[in-house]
Amino acid sequence: MRILVTGASGWIGSASVTQLLGAGHRVLGLARSDEAASKIAALGAEVVRGSLEDLPGLRAAASRVEGVVHLGYIHDFSRMEAAARTDRAAIETFAQVLAGSGGPLLIASGTLGLAPGRVGTEHDTPDPGIHPRVANAEYTQGLARQGVRAIVVRFAPTVHGAGGDHGFVAVLSRIARQRGVSGYVGDGSNRWPAVHQLDAARLVGLAVERAEPGAVLHAVAEEGIATRDIAAGLGRFHGLPVQSIAPDRAVEHFDWLAGFYAADAPASSAITRGLLGWQPQHPTLLQDIEAGHYPGA
Ligand SMILES: NC(=O)c1ccc[n+]([C@@H]2O[C@H](COP(=O)([O-])OP(=O)(O)OC[C@H]3O[C@@H](n4cnc5c(N)ncnc54)[C@H](OP(=O)(O)O)[C@@H]3O)[C@@H](O)[C@H]2O)c1
Repeated sequence: MRILVTGASGWIGSASVTQLLGAGHRVLGLARSDEAASKIAALGAEVVRGSLEDLPGLRAAASRVEGVVHLGYIHDFSRMEAAARTDRAAIETFAQVLAGSGGPLLIASGTLGLAPGRVGTEHDTPDPGIHPRVANAEYTQGLARQGVRAIVVRFAPTVHGAGGDHGFVAVLSRIARQRGVSGYVGDGSNRWPAVHQLDAARLVGLAVERAEPGAVLHAVAEEGIATRDIAAGLGRFHGLPVQSIAPDRAVEHFDWLAGFYAADAPASSAITRGLLGWQPQHPTLLQDIEAGHYPGA
């Protein structure tokens, strides 16, 4: 299949490009800069220059393929609403091109905010208040009615791996180094799901090939790691004391990460595994921390 990948130069996108190429697909990767273009070309994909804001460009790129894997996102916490609007416009553009074709349109979402107090599943609907992009996932699911093989992949909040994860655990590692203590909030029993980058990419590949229209899938290998265990792993790696941070001091200590890090957000992928036969095989988050992939530099 010919597939356009947005975010092809990113953490999950680059691994997904390699996965798709390895499975014999032809991949066009969207690049907004020379640097991204070089990365994508080095992976072996064809480069399409353009940005998520350039809708005519996205339309032209999507017209050249049979499916779209949309992993690009503007991660700007100061412009969350605007970023979600850009994301929505890009999804609408891809849907217009793919409508009636039955081709896959896979978009990224997250598992946070699914089911407070219990393990969230693919059947749960996230709280729309958690992030403005939640509505985009719901919109995408509805595209199945327009002859688009719409697929929503909810990634665990930590997609870890060797060299390059700049997500929450990388930030935690940096905070631990800066403060000289590896902290967790309260008793640290709240849980955080995770998946290895390469397992996530494998799921993207399987989904493009086999997922049914309207599918919601969970890229989750570990249902919930207690945050005190994550803190302990980072503490061991850095040789730092591990310490509880009182909830009323969490923002002072962890800044914008405090709310996420204090949440209990376990999520299951049993339905996804059953649907696609996906089996995570790569190291766990604590193994990757121990291996030195989170130096906190
Ligand atoms: N990583 C996680 O732990 C995680 C968890 C849950 C959900 N997700 C979601 O999964 C998707 C992929 O995440 P990721 O970790 O791979 O993200 P990432 O490493 O930050 O990559 C983002 C990608 O989007 C591209 N991009 C950003 N702004 C763009 C623009 N204006 N025009 C064109 N391209 C643009 C970037 O291109 P440049 O290379 O040019 O910057 C990059 O390729 C995202 O939707 C993310 O929110 C990720």
